[in-house]
Amino acid sequence: MSHASTADELAAQVAARRTFAIISHPDAGKSTLTEKLLLYAGAIELAGAVRGARSRRHVVSDWMAMEQERGISLTSTALEFDLDGCHLTLLDTPGHKDFSEDTYRSLVAADSVVMVIDAAKGIESQTRKLYEVCRRHRLPVLTFVNKLDHPGRDPLELLDEIESVLGIAAAPMNWPVGRGDRFRGVYSLEDRTLLLYERHLQGQRRAPVEVTSWDDPRVEELVGEYAYREFHEGMELVMTAGATFDEEAYLDGRLTGVYFGSALHNFGLEPFLRALTRLAPAPRPRQAGDRLIEPAAAHFSGFVFKIQANMDPRHRDRVAFVRVCSGRLLKDMVVTNARTNDTLRISRPYRMFGRDRQTATEACAGDIVGIVNPGRVAIGDTLYAGTPVTFPPIERFPAEHFGRLRLENARRKQFDDGIQQLEEEGLMQVFYPVQGGREPIVGVAGALQFDVIVARLKSEYNVESRIEPLSFVAARWLLTPPQEITDVPSSVLFATDRSGRDVLLFPSTWAIEYTERQNSHARLTALG
Ligand code: G4P
Repeated sequence: MSHASTADELAAQVAARRTFAIISHPDAGKSTLTEKLLLYAGAIELAGAVRGARSRRHVVSDWMAMEQERGISLTSTALEFDLDGCHLTLLDTPGHKDFSEDTYRSLVAADSVVMVIDAAKGIESQTRKLYEVCRRHRLPVLTFVNKLDHPGRDPLELLDEIESVLGIAAAPMNWPVGRGDRFRGVYSLEDRTLLLYERHLQGQRRAPVEVTSWDDPRVEELVGEYAYREFHEGMELVMTAGATFDEEAYLDGRLTGVYFGSALHNFGLEPFLRALTRLAPAPRPRQAGDRLIEPAAAHFSGFVFKIQANMDPRHRDRVAFVRVCSGRLLKDMVVTNARTNDTLRISRPYRMFGRDRQTATEACAGDIVGIVNPGRVAIGDTLYAGTPVTFPPIERFPAEHFGRLRLENARRKQFDDGIQQLEEEGLMQVFYPVQGGREPIVGVAGALQFDVIVARLKSEYNVESRIEPLSFVAARWLLTPPQEITDVPSSVLFATDRSGRDVLLFPSTWAIEYTERQNSHARLTALG
């Protein structure tokens, strides 16, 4: 094969990639939507392959259940499937309801995002937090307003809320006809069709009915007078005051296209998935210092966004998940870790196809590859072949729960090793108080991670430990020397992180504001 045709082939493969993540607040329907999308695309055969909400309810202190949980999320860190000539990769399929930094980090590895909103609840707290990350990375977002079969809020109000709370324009792509008990379907503004919702046809495919426009008299005949009246009023407002979809604004993260439907009833998913293949971007160039790395460039580059210990504690396997950013990653390739300059041979890269984990012979930009036992690799490390590349570090996300990690037996060395390893995996942030006891303070994004830390220290390092929750709510890295901070509430703790950087732990947002006010020259940052 000539060199030129290989380069063309690589460019075509990259252009077909759609690597995306789904964000939502718990219970909005992320698992249901994921499962239905995968079923639709033929990537899974059985309903229930992605864990249903019910089976996910487990006792958090039960280590076996957590082990199982991690097994599931291990095999579903990224799922790949083909549709409409595109190769889709879905990142971070649902795990437990608790928040972890992994969810944030998977956004850094995605090229676009699907945001699921519960029609009755609107924008909820975790959606808001996750959206903040999307905004910082200017990720394009498509929105799915779910549970239209249930009584929900006025769709216009929901669009307003997206705009006012998230600060992004919201352009309806379809519009609901009726709501809750009187939900009759959706009208597509894109192709002027009416997709009728018939309760008794649950889960079956329906063909959309073509109409000439939203005020075509056939619409009323099809949906009945009452639902039509409400729909008509809504559409009049949408047409006069609503945002219209603008692809450039979407790709730039300034506008989200909004689809209404019901994941549970498999309603409105097909047009949504097709829109995703059509609109969501293929991998784009990524900034590395002052260079832009083109996805179809000749040399391989990528970064590690997740590290997970293997399910089987006897082998102590670790898997590093790499987002490929350019070139091809080939089996047995030798790559360099830009941080340490170490080289490593990628002898067993694997990828997830539907439910199967397979050894991959090659991967290109947009793909997610798992590397087993990667040695000294930490989250955020860049791997490359050929010309050296260093992607920007992956920011640590603000921990919101803090606790003192106490060693309960005499295995200090194993304790220190375990802490270092778990921190490298990104399971927690570790802080050491400047004064007082030696015991480290751990900070996590979701409180469930406390249980995971204690359980893993025990099973993997044979260390007995316990975490005493502390009343801090936030950490701020100090970019000014600590001696210049003169006026702080006594409840604020001075600490350092593993690399010796100064950190302040705060018991309230009031204390942060006070410290900032009283020390106006000081520079504090929430991202480590
Ligand atoms: P999550 O991953 O975002 O946490 O949400 P999940 O899909 O688990 O859905 C949360 C609940 O909402 C589930 O009910 C699910 O069946 C329901 N749900 C999802 N989509 C729709 C929809 O379109 N319409 C309606 N009416 N409900 C929907 P559950 O009772 O908590 O769990 P289960 O017993 O059904 O598994």
